[in-house]
Amino acid sequence: MAKKTSTTKKTAARKEQATWGGRFSQGPAELMLKFSESVSFDARLAPFDIAGSKAQAKMLAHVGIITKKECNDIVRGLDAILKEIETGKFKWNIALEDVHMNIEQVLTKRVPAAAKLHTARSRNDQVATDMRLFFKDASAKIFEKLGTLMNTLLDVAARNQDVYIPGFTHLQRAQPVSVAHHLLAYVEMFSRDRERFAAVFDHANWSPLGSGAIAGTTLPIDRGFSALEMDFVDDRGNARVTRNSMDAVSDRDTFIEFASACALCGVHFSRIAEDLILWNSSEFGFVALPDTFTTGSSLMPQKKNPDSLELLRGKSARLHGNLVALVTMVKGLPLTYNRDLQEDKPPVFDSFDTVMISLDVLRETLAGASMRADRCAAAVADPLLLATDVADYLVRAGVPFREAHHVVGHLVALAEKEGVPLNTLPFEKVKKVHPKLREDWVKVFDLKTAMASRERVGMPGPKQVKKQILDWRKRLV
Ligand code: ARG
Repeated sequence: MAKKTSTTKKTAARKEQATWGGRFSQGPAELMLKFSESVSFDARLAPFDIAGSKAQAKMLAHVGIITKKECNDIVRGLDAILKEIETGKFKWNIALEDVHMNIEQVLTKRVPAAAKLHTARSRNDQVATDMRLFFKDASAKIFEKLGTLMNTLLDVAARNQDVYIPGFTHLQRAQPVSVAHHLLAYVEMFSRDRERFAAVFDHANWSPLGSGAIAGTTLPIDRGFSALEMDFVDDRGNARVTRNSMDAVSDRDTFIEFASACALCGVHFSRIAEDLILWNSSEFGFVALPDTFTTGSSLMPQKKNPDSLELLRGKSARLHGNLVALVTMVKGLPLTYNRDLQEDKPPVFDSFDTVMISLDVLRETLAGASMRADRCAAAVADPLLLATDVADYLVRAGVPFREAHHVVGHLVALAEKEGVPLNTLPFEKVKKVHPKLREDWVKVFDLKTAMASRERVGMPGPKQVKKQILDWRKRLV
């Protein structure tokens, strides 16, 4: 303990190496560099950072702050760096902290004019720009993949329109539904997820470049020009630029909205995973999962475990954690930029990566799954699933619903007492329960008829389900 550790004394980066080194007599300690670097996770922003820098160079040339030649040299240098990054040849240096300074320093060594690139720009508006470009790209990618997943759900639904299973409330058998109707519920959820990612795209679609560190610049820049260069445009192609420099450099709403859209998507992953895990258990036996997305037990040779689904359920917890990390980080920060905000990127990247791979895994697990028609038929044959239909039968005969509900309750209790299925109660006993129960009451238990009587919008009748599938197909093209 008495011995001074080398990390606290040693300065790993020369002071001039840091872009901000002018007012310092010593560079940062190695420990500080290790603690404060972000290039280990923000290097992935390089394509966006370079797009932003090219737009910045072109704008500076457009307003006459740099020459056309200087601009061309900078743009060429940036393109070369991007190629090196893409081919893994670029050497990242943690002493240069982040993606922005790594690229700028290497560029400036090769292209002297690049010393002018940071004119009227701060890393604060630079990182905000990079991340808005990231969110547009990420949201568009998730939006598209959600569409693919929805199409797979529609394929499975279409194949299973006449496979009926018990629908559950309280995890108790409730009423019959088709597998298709059950899966279409998830199509609805994932379609709302898509709308949320479209909203994130829209909110991200404003250029913060030119906001500087906090209060813009005294130089005659053209923010609309760089916005157009980076495709921050409205439907008519007009530039969209943020309206308040302080908000632009410290706003992290889009981060939170993105993480929130991912978290809610994760809720849906988790719920469908749980449904399939239950259906796959021996107790239900409704579905057989593909070998390729299940695993065995190292001890029990008979096991085939639904690991892909359990991991989908488990990974959704990370998505929720990432959202909580972001809201907690931002909530007490004074305006404007604070270094805390560097920590905004790992949760966002993790949510993006987790959602992307989860979408693929869920789609493939579903595509390879097959419903076990015999087990579904056996479960849905339970006449109790149509007890509510008996009440509806009485309502049609003029009995008030509350009374009808009571009557059917008696019938259920009677069947239980007799130890027979509800639909096999002898009519002699049935008719004593209520005079409106006629001999044709057993017709209620015909599953096909029961399903065909549920054809209003949103119900599980086969025609309605077919229509929903067709409507979704049209919407998804
Ligand atoms: N790496 C930093 C981040 O992600 C870039 C912005 C740094 N700005 C600053 N004023 N130190 O937050």
